[in-house]
Amino acid sequence: AATVPVALAALLAAGGPAAAGPAHIPAGHPAARTTGSAGAGDPYFPLAGNGGYHVEHYGLTLGYDPDSGRLDGTAVLTARATQRLTRFDLDLNGLKVTRLTVDGAQAAFRRDGQELVVTPRTALPKGHRFRVTVAYNGSPEQVTDPDGSDDGWITTDDGAFVAGEPQGAMTWFPANNHPTDKSSYDFTITVPQGHTAVANGLYLGSRTAGGRTTFRWRQPEPMAAYLATATVGKFQVEQYTTRDGLKIYNAVDPREAADAAPVLKQLPSVLEWESKLFGPYPFQSAGSIVDHAPSVGYALETQSRPLYDSAPSLSTLVHESAHQWFGDSVSVTRWKDIWLNEGFATYAEWLYAEQHGGRSAQDRFDALYARPAGDALWAFPPGDPGDGENIFASPVYSRGAMVLHKLRGAVGDAAFFRVLRTWAADHRHGNGTTAQFTALAERVSGKNLDGLFHTWLLTKGKPDTP
Ligand code: ARG
Ligand code: ZN
Repeated sequence: AATVPVALAALLAAGGPAAAGPAHIPAGHPAARTTGSAGAGDPYFPLAGNGGYHVEHYGLTLGYDPDSGRLDGTAVLTARATQRLTRFDLDLNGLKVTRLTVDGAQAAFRRDGQELVVTPRTALPKGHRFRVTVAYNGSPEQVTDPDGSDDGWITTDDGAFVAGEPQGAMTWFPANNHPTDKSSYDFTITVPQGHTAVANGLYLGSRTAGGRTTFRWRQPEPMAAYLATATVGKFQVEQYTTRDGLKIYNAVDPREAADAAPVLKQLPSVLEWESKLFGPYPFQSAGSIVDHAPSVGYALETQSRPLYDSAPSLSTLVHESAHQWFGDSVSVTRWKDIWLNEGFATYAEWLYAEQHGGRSAQDRFDALYARPAGDALWAFPPGDPGDGENIFASPVYSRGAMVLHKLRGAVGDAAFFRVLRTWAADHRHGNGTTAQFTALAERVSGKNLDGLFHTWLLTKGKPDTP
């Protein structure tokens, strides 16, 4: 890599040139660029997200026909330039873009894999707030992730299961598709009458005309693109308000209804229990989408309203609910930090069982520790999964939970739960890193935890002692 003059390096670290103009920066240096980068800089998914701007709001107007599989969309993004931009990218996979404007003026664009490269008619100054409108259509196609699982717009026999972790948002709307860019959302989704379209946040109402029904949704709190959904199916819908004033909207495939009912009934008490442990529930609405999507094989903590591929177990409901704090409100900064989501949600399952007459967390820890050194559980450390292929593997989930159990044992219950609550509060509706979490644990507990985190979080292989 080219060496950067010391003064410039300091300037860049301080947030970029303030008084100094581009003339003082060597040509070709990133600070001299006026084109937004093609990725957010995440080594696991280099093209995910984009540089040069922040999306404040997405307005998505969608029409979906389950029979033909055709999606018609208009996305209106309100964004702010974080640098001067002569060109910037959005992420969009497949689909045909029919029209694109920036601040109302037609803009040139080209497609390059998952990058939708936009050249506005005039350069956007740094700090400028701008509006991008993209009209598009086609048959959305799910993406296959490095681990072989699918995500994105996944068609079902009566609609679509729409889950975007980690990559799939770009299969159905043009996005700045990285968890570091969080935005509010409005959804207007039209489907054939008899179908229901369920998105995130507050249900604003529906209207039926000419055999089609339009559903409107609003997610006011910041949301990472991967947590957005627009799931379509023939659902039974239930709405109510909890004692705490939380608006619940459940949509359930009738084939899953009998199994789902007793579990969904527990949602208010699970959220109440988690609020006691983790702090106030971060959103204004809640609920569940229970689809019948046998090919999927996982659930997703879609913001405010988790999405299940079949009737969930109570433990899975606890897991996806815990993600509302850990993953959705506090999002990862790099996909490498994924244990901050999955280790925490898994440990929430352990805690729930422990406090509701089930197995103790210690018992679960011991059973996992008993696994032989060659077991997949020890294949890599939770804090450093190595690449995108490993982000949903057992070292992230189970060994991630073991890290928290070790932390709890080292600092005691009072400090441990204070760490969890402080983490959720300090990074609420934002992002966090593994290093920030370990520093917080040391600060709150007043203990040096380097050895613990080194062994359990960052070192490959089975630790010598439990
Ligand atoms: N975060 C989801 C869960 O724990 C898993 C998502 C898996 N995604 C995938 N493409 N395999 O509950
Ligand atoms: Zn999870």
